[in-house]
Order: sequence, then structure tokens, then C-alpha cells
Amino acid sequence: MSNPVIACRNVWKLYGPDPVNFLRELDGQDPGFEALREQGYISAVRDVSLDIHHGEMLVIMGLSGSGKSTLVRCLSRLVDISGGEIDVDGADLSALSETELIDLRRNKMGMVFQSFGLLPHRTVLDNVAFPLEMRGQDKHARRARAMEMIELVGLQGREEYFPRELSGGQQQRVGIARSLAIEPDIWFLDEPFSALDPLIRREMQDEFLRLQDLLGKTIVFITHDFDEALRLADRIAIMKDGAIEQCDRPGNIVMNPATEYVAKFTEDIDKARVVHARDLMMPVSSGVPEGAAISAAATVHDLARRLVDDLNPQIPVADENGAVVGVLSRDAALNVLLGTA
Ligand SMILES: Nc1ncnc2c1ncn2[C@@H]1O[C@H](COP(=O)(O)OP(=O)(O)O)[C@@H](O)[C@H]1O
Ligand SMILES: [Mg+2]
Repeated sequence: MSNPVIACRNVWKLYGPDPVNFLRELDGQDPGFEALREQGYISAVRDVSLDIHHGEMLVIMGLSGSGKSTLVRCLSRLVDISGGEIDVDGADLSALSETELIDLRRNKMGMVFQSFGLLPHRTVLDNVAFPLEMRGQDKHARRARAMEMIELVGLQGREEYFPRELSGGQQQRVGIARSLAIEPDIWFLDEPFSALDPLIRREMQDEFLRLQDLLGKTIVFITHDFDEALRLADRIAIMKDGAIEQCDRPGNIVMNPATEYVAKFTEDIDKARVVHARDLMMPVSSGVPEGAAISAAATVHDLARRLVDDLNPQIPVADENGAVVGVLSRDAALNVLLGTA
């Protein structure tokens, strides 16, 4: 696999009297959230190790207060970490100078927040062009770029509106367009859809998937909604009390939850819509079974008809190039379909 875009090694963020020295004395041990609190420290991020790869959508999921925002603020060094190391494109984030940091945030990192953060007295166009203005781009070029982004998020015709004249969903589209204007390599989104109505929210998720298909960015997306995480993620990192309980593909998380805490989230999930053939398949050991191959990217739900009609106990699974990469057991897949897995 290629080098990670972001690599976190044993990252800590403690709030309390003297975090750095306190951590040094712990010497790599993690006494746990409660024990730390008894000693006067809130562990907002607790011993997190994580690689984020080029073009992947990593979703950080956890309840309110679990440390999601703090972790992402550490990744952009909006807060300094108390221990561990974060590398961005191979460079130690904590070793960057103030100007290098500003450069990184202005040119490489896009950010979107739940609260939109639009400038109320500026039009849609001027909001989207704002980061380009900060960067000193000339007026003509930044207007052209801003218009492009406005079109990308489906707001053409509304360039001259003010934020207050837009719905919540439209305002967040402006936020998204603005964050994309600088062509970031890494895109951080902290609960971007949490303030929106459920229907709008779903629409925005679809839009977001369409955009990602088009742009292929490296994305860290935060949510407290497990369904949203399942819909969007390549991988989900589930946080509790500052630590990552499990980080895996959605299908693996619902099939093999690592802890009881994770299992609770997966209880009411329709697994057939989340688990893909690739999550269940076994290596080809004794020859490729008969029958047309199914796609590794198909969900068990997509395969329902075939699983019922095709009595062969084993079904070949192919990758996107049509090469057979595994074997699916009909029984195992039916168990997922019927909720008996
Ligand atoms: N500046 C701060 N000072 C003290 N505690 C903080 C600070 N920022 C965050 N925390 C605490 O860190 C924990 C994680 O917060 P946060 O990252 O905002 O969680 P989330 O985004 O998952 O809701 C919470 O217990 C919060 O109260
Ligand atoms: Mg938060």
C-alpha cells in the first residue's frame, strides 16, 4: 500500500494541569479514561494510532464528547497534541513552523463545520471566493474558480444571494464549495450535516458521495450517526472516551464488532445492506466453483435473488476487472440476508 497521507502514532490530547510531563510519567501506559479523570485529566484523545490513505473516506464516529472534534483539530494542528506524533505527507506536524502551518492549512486542507461559518454580509460568491482572497489570488481568477465550485455543488443562479436567504442545506453547500475552492488534498468535515433535517441530510449524503466519486479526495468525515457512517465510509473509526475502539470497513464492523460498545451500534442495522461479498468471501482454495461470478462490491442485499435461486454452495467472487478473487459461501451469505448471522 502507498504511504499514508496522515499517520498518527500514539497520539494523546489531555486537558489538565501539566499534560506533557504527566504523560511522560505514564511512559506509554494507558490507565483508562476514568483513572485519568481521577488524577485531574480529561483525555480528549487517548493513545490513537491511525493511518489515513490517499483517496480514502475515513469516518470518525462516536457519541458527543468522545473526542472526534479534538482528534481532527489535532490532525490540522488547530490544537497541539500532548504526546505521540502526527505525520502529514511524511512530515512531522509538530515540527512545522508557523508559516509552514498556515501554508498547509491554506493550500492543502479543506475544512467544513456543522455551524457553516459563513460570512453573513457577503454573497454566496464572495463567501466561496474568500479563502482565495486570503491567499492573495486576483479578483478575476478567484471569481472564476468560485463560480466553478458553486456549480459543482448545484447552487448556480444563487451567487448573489446572502446566507440568510438560503436554507440550511444550501448554506452548507456554500460551506462545502468554499472549502473546495482551494483544491485541498485533505478534506476535514466535522459533522457537516448534523444541523440539517433528516430528508435534506440524506440528500446531502448522496450529493457528497457524488462529489467524492468525482474528486477522489482524502477525507476525514466526523459524525455521531452510525447510519451516516455506514453510508459514506470506506473505513469507520469508532471512538469512545478519546480512544478508538475499532477501525475497519463497515462490513467488518457489523460482522465482527471488536467490543461490546461497538456491538451495541450494530444491533439494529440491516446487515445485508452493509456487508459486501468481499467482506464474506474466502480465498479460492480448491478450484473456482461453477456459475457466473458475482462482484466483490455487491452487498448481500444486492445478491438476494441469486442467493435464493442458485443452489450451488459456493459462488465465485470477482474484482472490478473480472478476475476471480474469492469464493462466497451461500450459507454464510443467506445467514446475513436472513439476519441469522
Ligand atoms: N479546550 C478544552 N478544555 C477542556 N476540555 C476540553 C476542551 N476541548 C474539549 N474538551 C473535552 O474533551 C472531550 C472531547 O471533546 P470533543 O472532541 O469536542 O468531542 P466530540 O467532538 O466527539 O463531541 C470532551 O470531554 C470535552 O469536554
Ligand atoms: Mg465535535
